[in-house]
Amino acid sequence: MSEKNETSDFDEFVKSMEEEILEEARGIYTEKTLEEAYNPKNVGALETPSGAARVTGPCGDTLQMHIKVEENKIVDCKFITDGCGASMACGSVITELVKGKTIEEAFRIGNRDILSILGGLPEENIHCSVLAVDTLRAALEDYKSKSRNNNKK
Ligand code: FES
Repeated sequence: MSEKNETSDFDEFVKSMEEEILEEARGIYTEKTLEEAYNPKNVGALETPSGAARVTGPCGDTLQMHIKVEENKIVDCKFITDGCGASMACGSVITELVKGKTIEEAFRIGNRDILSILGGLPEENIHCSVLAVDTLRAALEDYKSKSRNNNKK
Protein backbone atom coordinates (compact mmCIF):
# COMPACT_ATOMS: atom_id res chain seq x y z
CA MET A 1 0.00 0.00 0.00
CA SER A 2 1.33 3.48 -0.81
CA GLU A 3 2.07 5.94 1.95
CA LYS A 4 -0.70 8.21 0.67
CA ASN A 5 -3.30 5.45 0.98
CA GLU A 6 -2.14 4.58 4.46
CA THR A 7 -2.52 8.23 5.46
CA SER A 8 -6.01 8.51 4.03
CA ASP A 9 -7.01 5.18 5.66
CA PHE A 10 -5.77 6.56 8.95
CA ASP A 11 -7.59 9.86 8.39
CA GLU A 12 -10.78 7.93 7.65
CA PHE A 13 -10.31 5.87 10.80
CA VAL A 14 -9.82 9.02 12.92
CA LYS A 15 -12.86 10.63 11.32
CA SER A 16 -15.09 7.64 11.99
CA MET A 17 -13.84 7.47 15.60
CA GLU A 18 -14.61 11.18 16.04
CA GLU A 19 -18.09 10.69 14.60
CA GLU A 20 -18.69 7.75 16.90
CA ILE A 21 -17.59 9.73 19.96
CA LEU A 22 -19.76 12.68 18.93
CA GLU A 23 -22.72 10.38 18.37
CA GLU A 24 -22.25 8.91 21.83
CA ALA A 25 -21.89 12.40 23.35
CA ARG A 26 -25.15 13.46 21.67
CA GLY A 27 -26.95 10.82 23.68
CA ILE A 28 -25.51 12.17 26.94
CA TYR A 29 -25.24 15.95 26.51
CA THR A 30 -27.59 18.56 25.05
CA GLU A 31 -26.74 20.20 21.71
CA LYS A 32 -26.10 23.46 23.57
CA THR A 33 -23.57 21.77 25.89
CA LEU A 34 -21.74 20.22 22.94
CA GLU A 35 -21.72 23.53 21.09
CA GLU A 36 -20.24 25.36 24.13
CA ALA A 37 -17.76 22.55 24.84
CA TYR A 38 -16.45 22.45 21.26
CA ASN A 39 -16.52 26.23 20.68
CA PRO A 40 -16.04 27.74 24.13
CA LYS A 41 -16.05 31.51 24.53
CA ASN A 42 -13.65 33.54 26.67
CA VAL A 43 -10.89 30.96 26.97
CA GLY A 44 -7.60 32.44 28.16
CA ALA A 45 -6.22 34.83 30.73
CA LEU A 46 -6.44 38.60 31.23
CA GLU A 47 -3.21 40.57 31.35
CA THR A 48 -4.13 42.63 34.41
CA PRO A 49 -7.12 40.96 36.09
CA SER A 50 -8.94 42.82 38.88
CA GLY A 51 -9.65 39.46 40.49
CA ALA A 52 -8.34 35.95 39.88
CA ALA A 53 -8.87 32.47 41.25
CA ARG A 54 -7.97 28.88 40.56
CA VAL A 55 -10.12 26.20 42.15
CA THR A 56 -9.79 22.42 42.09
CA GLY A 57 -13.05 20.47 42.07
CA PRO A 58 -13.77 17.17 43.82
CA CYS A 59 -12.83 15.34 40.59
CA GLY A 60 -9.30 16.83 40.74
CA ASP A 61 -9.83 19.09 37.72
CA THR A 62 -8.96 22.75 37.92
CA LEU A 63 -10.64 25.89 36.64
CA GLN A 64 -8.99 29.30 36.57
CA MET A 65 -10.93 32.52 36.17
CA HIS A 66 -9.90 36.14 35.66
CA ILE A 67 -12.28 39.09 35.95
CA LYS A 68 -11.83 42.71 34.97
CA VAL A 69 -13.91 45.16 36.99
CA GLU A 70 -14.61 48.79 36.16
CA GLU A 71 -16.90 50.95 38.30
CA ASN A 72 -18.27 47.89 40.14
CA LYS A 73 -19.19 46.17 36.86
CA ILE A 74 -17.54 43.14 35.33
CA VAL A 75 -16.38 44.22 31.90
CA ASP A 76 -14.38 41.12 30.97
CA CYS A 77 -13.94 37.55 32.15
CA LYS A 78 -11.76 34.69 30.93
CA PHE A 79 -11.20 31.11 32.00
CA ILE A 80 -8.95 28.11 31.49
CA THR A 81 -9.73 24.56 32.55
CA ASP A 82 -7.95 21.24 32.37
CA GLY A 83 -11.28 19.57 33.10
CA CYS A 84 -13.87 17.70 31.08
CA GLY A 85 -15.97 18.97 28.17
CA ALA A 86 -18.77 19.88 30.58
CA SER A 87 -16.43 22.12 32.58
CA MET A 88 -15.46 23.79 29.29
CA ALA A 89 -19.15 24.39 28.51
CA CYS A 90 -19.82 25.69 32.05
CA GLY A 91 -16.81 28.04 31.89
CA SER A 92 -17.98 29.36 28.55
CA VAL A 93 -21.53 30.01 29.80
CA ILE A 94 -20.61 31.58 33.13
CA THR A 95 -18.03 33.95 31.64
CA GLU A 96 -20.70 35.18 29.21
CA LEU A 97 -23.31 35.44 31.97
CA VAL A 98 -21.11 37.52 34.22
CA LYS A 99 -20.21 40.24 31.74
CA GLY A 100 -22.02 43.52 32.45
CA LYS A 101 -23.11 42.37 35.93
CA THR A 102 -22.31 44.22 39.14
CA ILE A 103 -20.26 42.39 41.79
CA GLU A 104 -23.42 41.81 43.85
CA GLU A 105 -25.33 40.41 40.84
CA ALA A 106 -22.40 38.16 39.93
CA PHE A 107 -22.40 36.68 43.46
CA ARG A 108 -26.01 35.64 42.89
CA ILE A 109 -25.20 33.53 39.81
CA GLY A 110 -25.67 29.89 40.76
CA ASN A 111 -25.05 26.61 39.02
CA ARG A 112 -28.79 26.39 38.26
CA ASP A 113 -28.35 29.40 35.94
CA ILE A 114 -25.68 27.50 34.00
CA LEU A 115 -27.76 24.31 33.94
CA SER A 116 -30.81 26.12 32.64
CA ILE A 117 -28.79 27.62 29.75
CA LEU A 118 -27.21 24.27 28.92
CA GLY A 119 -30.51 22.42 29.20
CA GLY A 120 -29.15 20.33 32.06
CA LEU A 121 -26.14 18.07 32.57
CA PRO A 122 -25.87 14.41 33.49
CA GLU A 123 -25.85 13.82 37.26
CA GLU A 124 -22.11 13.00 37.25
CA ASN A 125 -21.33 16.38 35.67
CA ILE A 126 -23.32 18.61 38.02
CA HIS A 127 -20.14 19.22 40.04
CA CYS A 128 -18.54 20.76 36.90
CA SER A 129 -21.13 23.57 37.03
CA VAL A 130 -20.52 23.97 40.78
CA LEU A 131 -16.78 24.26 40.06
CA ALA A 132 -17.47 27.11 37.61
CA VAL A 133 -19.57 28.97 40.22
CA ASP A 134 -17.06 28.34 43.04
CA THR A 135 -14.27 29.71 40.86
CA LEU A 136 -16.25 32.80 39.92
CA ARG A 137 -17.05 33.48 43.60
CA ALA A 138 -13.40 33.03 44.56
CA ALA A 139 -12.37 35.52 41.84
CA LEU A 140 -15.01 37.98 43.13
CA GLU A 141 -13.69 37.54 46.69
CA ASP A 142 -10.16 38.12 45.41
CA TYR A 143 -11.34 41.34 43.75
CA LYS A 144 -13.09 42.46 46.94
CA SER A 145 -10.08 41.84 49.16
CA LYS A 146 -7.77 43.61 46.68
CA SER A 147 -10.03 46.66 46.53
CA ARG A 148 -10.31 46.69 50.37
CA ASN A 149 -6.51 46.70 50.59
CA ASN A 150 -6.26 49.43 47.97
CA ASN A 151 -8.72 51.58 49.94
CA LYS A 152 -6.58 51.19 53.08
CA LYS A 153 -3.50 52.59 51.29
FE1 FES B 1 -13.85 17.34 36.49
FE2 FES B 1 -15.95 17.90 34.93
S1 FES B 1 -14.63 19.29 35.93
S2 FES B 1 -15.24 15.96 35.57
